[in-house]
Amino acid sequence: MIDRYAVIGNPVAHSQSPRIHAMFALALREDVEYGTILGRPGRFADDVKAFRQSGGRGLNVTVPFKLDAFELATQRSERATQAGAVNTLKFDRECVIGDNTDGAGLVRDIQENLGFDIAGKRVLLMGAGGAARGALLPLLAERPMRIAIANRTVTRAQALAARFEPHAAGVALSCGSYEDAGGPFDLVINATSASLSNVLPPLSPDVFAKGALAYDMVYGERARLFLAYSLANGAARAADGLGMLVEQAAESFFLWRGVRPVTLPVLAALRERDAEMTALNAR
Ligand code: ATR
Repeated sequence: MIDRYAVIGNPVAHSQSPRIHAMFALALREDVEYGTILGRPGRFADDVKAFRQSGGRGLNVTVPFKLDAFELATQRSERATQAGAVNTLKFDRECVIGDNTDGAGLVRDIQENLGFDIAGKRVLLMGAGGAARGALLPLLAERPMRIAIANRTVTRAQALAARFEPHAAGVALSCGSYEDAGGPFDLVINATSASLSNVLPPLSPDVFAKGALAYDMVYGERARLFLAYSLANGAARAADGLGMLVEQAAESFFLWRGVRPVTLPVLAALRERDAEMTALNAR
């Protein structure tokens, strides 16, 4: 039986993961099949069980099932435990291994693809939800000079800072409202869901240090507002989260198959398709 993988979410039809994993598998000559599963709210465990019975070896897990996947895992990586969510499941006999590759994907995109070295830098992390939480451990591991967490609801930022303080190891970790954030910052990461509603977080325009990189975890059209704002207010560079998407997928592929895909050609292919879609929509 061919090894089967899939992304499970709801909705899931828009997911780029099948395309990304198909390119990885082709380049590495790995004989795998990768599909989509429209998960049923409240029936996650049943859906996973059915997939395993049909030869499923692993799953990518997206909204709204990352907490269900966390609960279902019988073993969790440290980064999944700290993220409090699982985006990758691997089935190994009776074991269900839960990992979270989102934060590693973010860091890899920033460092490898964008060539921005996080060590010693001043980082502003906007948001204190699941996306911010998943990013913190991998960001701290790169030893920036400081990380300031800014959130609309300050108590959530405080809770996040308190949770990660034991892992800060010399990194100055602070938290507060957007007004309290201080600055300037070399790296400004939008980990809020504000871009999904096409609004900006209440970010002061003077947070960008000379040469700053602005990064939105969402990709495509939805990242445009924040990235345009950043460039207009002094950021030297701006990037959306398409690279993060490809890198988290590569990290999942590595966990499942033990081989690491080369990501840049895949990212380039997705960007090309993005450009074609934009051109089509503009007609
Ligand atoms: P996710 O899993 O995507 O992180 P989440 O856990 O619901 O989703 O968190 C959403 C984050 O986006 C939160 O930090 C939220 O701020 P609050 O904690 O104050 O709700 C932030 N967010 C959403 N819309 C926002 C907006 N319009 N302006 C600023 N922050 C926003």
